[in-house]
Amino acid sequence: MTSSPERESVGVIDPLPPALSSMWRLCKLGYRHEPRLMLAAFGLSQLAALPDALLALWLMLLGQGVLEHRPGLMRGAAIGLGVSTAATWFLRTVSTRVQRRFRDKVTIALESHIAQLQASVVTIAHHERPDYLDRLSMLRNQVFVLDHMYMSVFSTLGWILRLGVTMALLISIHPALLLLAAFAVPTILTSSWRPEVERTTSERGSQAGRLARHLFTIATTAPPGKEVRVTGIGDRLIAERRSAWERWYWPLAAARRGSAMWHALAWAVFGLAYVGAIVFVSSGIHAPAGQVLLVLAAGARLSGYIGATVGEIGFLRGFWMDGSRRLAWLENYAASVSSLGDLPVPGVLLRGIRLERVSFAYPGTSRVVLDDVSVTLPAGSVVAIVGENGAGKTTLVKLIAKMYEPSSGSILLDDTPLARVRADEWRARLAGAFQDFFRFEFRAGHTVGLGDVPRMDDEPAVLAAVERAGAGDVVAHLPLGLDTQLGATWPGGSELSFGQWQKLALARGFMRDQPLLLVLDEPTAALDAETEHALFERYAAAARGTGESDSGRITILVSHRFSTVRMADLIVVLDGARLVEVGTHDELMAKSGQYSELYRIQAAAYR
Ligand SMILES: Nc1ncnc2c1ncn2[C@@H]1O[C@H](COP(=O)(O)OP(=O)(O)O)[C@@H](O)[C@H]1O
Ligand SMILES: [Mg+2]
Repeated sequence: MTSSPERESVGVIDPLPPALSSMWRLCKLGYRHEPRLMLAAFGLSQLAALPDALLALWLMLLGQGVLEHRPGLMRGAAIGLGVSTAATWFLRTVSTRVQRRFRDKVTIALESHIAQLQASVVTIAHHERPDYLDRLSMLRNQVFVLDHMYMSVFSTLGWILRLGVTMALLISIHPALLLLAAFAVPTILTSSWRPEVERTTSERGSQAGRLARHLFTIATTAPPGKEVRVTGIGDRLIAERRSAWERWYWPLAAARRGSAMWHALAWAVFGLAYVGAIVFVSSGIHAPAGQVLLVLAAGARLSGYIGATVGEIGFLRGFWMDGSRRLAWLENYAASVSSLGDLPVPGVLLRGIRLERVSFAYPGTSRVVLDDVSVTLPAGSVVAIVGENGAGKTTLVKLIAKMYEPSSGSILLDDTPLARVRADEWRARLAGAFQDFFRFEFRAGHTVGLGDVPRMDDEPAVLAAVERAGAGDVVAHLPLGLDTQLGATWPGGSELSFGQWQKLALARGFMRDQPLLLVLDEPTAALDAETEHALFERYAAAARGTGESDSGRITILVSHRFSTVRMADLIVVLDGARLVEVGTHDELMAKSGQYSELYRIQAAAYR
């Protein structure tokens, strides 16, 4: 029981773009949206870092004043200490406020940027390929940390500033104290290595993690509820969820334990060096007490600063870098697939859509789903595609709709290669309804009207589409007609049956008035045979009725019901990825091949 269909090979995935340029891109993105706030947040965060680092200096002066009985120095140091402490608090508070404002604003900008990127990708491979899905799910979960990353960069720079000041103070006592920082190198190494290890482990198990969440959803949400209870798979779901979760979690926990051990070891090395430095200053070079005080304070701060710096850098590496690389990848990907297309879509089809030796395997898999398919769908015709489940009917439709590019061969609109027209321009000339339609839980009028967004609020157009789809009875039963909110979870919402949802989806497919291609991919599977038959008969008559004079619209119809299929002008029979027969109903019946056999079996069953 796994969630995804079996795939024979998954491997070819483009690598993520380099880290530094991606991070720079994200910086520029933030600056583009909120330039002033970003600068203010940056400036304040650096200013807030300073007084804190100077604390050790005041302490030394204070110590000197006390030991050498110099009241003036004492007073000056005490005032410096007080001002420093107050300024730390004040600047930190102001800077936090400004940063929060910047964060809130930039989060909104980033979220809409990502949503828009995803929606702008014209093919749907990124919604169907498991490796892309993993990448995107990380990105989606990380959107809320992406904004955190600006803060993280600011504070990293702030920590580096503090670190620099502290080191300068130490060197002023004795250059050898610089060595103290060298002993912190192992801590830097372990903290930059840790997130990398943990992230790779987590990513390696992310399929299992996704499966666990999927099983959890199945076990706890309403739609699968009935089946879960009838089949009694509840216990099994729980057990499988647990084992999937463990497959994800245990390797991660082990990786975390291992890396934590190395980290602790590195810190122990630094601790020893700190003790050594104090012994060196007090007994080795016999420095005055005030300076020992400075080394005590600054050295202690040094460990804190280094800890914070490497911690922040670790966070940067783990999230910011990773998240920004994913974002940069998505930007590149969206740009690469949407910039294709240098020819216009023909205004009308004169001859039709021609497939020439089209073969296709889903990206990232090696199984050929369509094998060397050549056929012409004549302009102005109704074409039916038949074949068993999994024969490749929907895939063929997806290729013609340019959701995917064929692996080899070409598709031509009259003489224009489909590969060279812009996908969005071609999509604007498509209309259709699919078996796996989506339930848009809006007002009924919009649920249908979405099929042609510019005319979404055009009530006569919506009603006409409802009529064409034979969905008039659905709308008539709604308490407020087209104004009824759909979906039981919304206030005053009405729930529909599956068949009713499907009729509305069909109406949505009929919204566009003048499409070049209308696709009906088993959109009526939930309706009874007679309704489907009546619907298509009416539809086919209308489609032919408009005749040659108009756009040469082609209708592709996928159905398992031969009573419907036989009305088509051309019937395409697919079997195991290959096209086996093409012709009209009468031609194919005369041929006594696969089609006629299937037809007779179904006709006998209905008799
Ligand atoms: N997104 C996908 N990734 C990989 N394989 C897929 C995907 N969608 C469909 N397939 C495979 O392609 C084959 C044809 O599927 P499909 O075109 O949906 O068949 P049909 O519509 O004729 O029932 C099936 O074996 C199916 O498993
Ligand atoms: Mg299908």
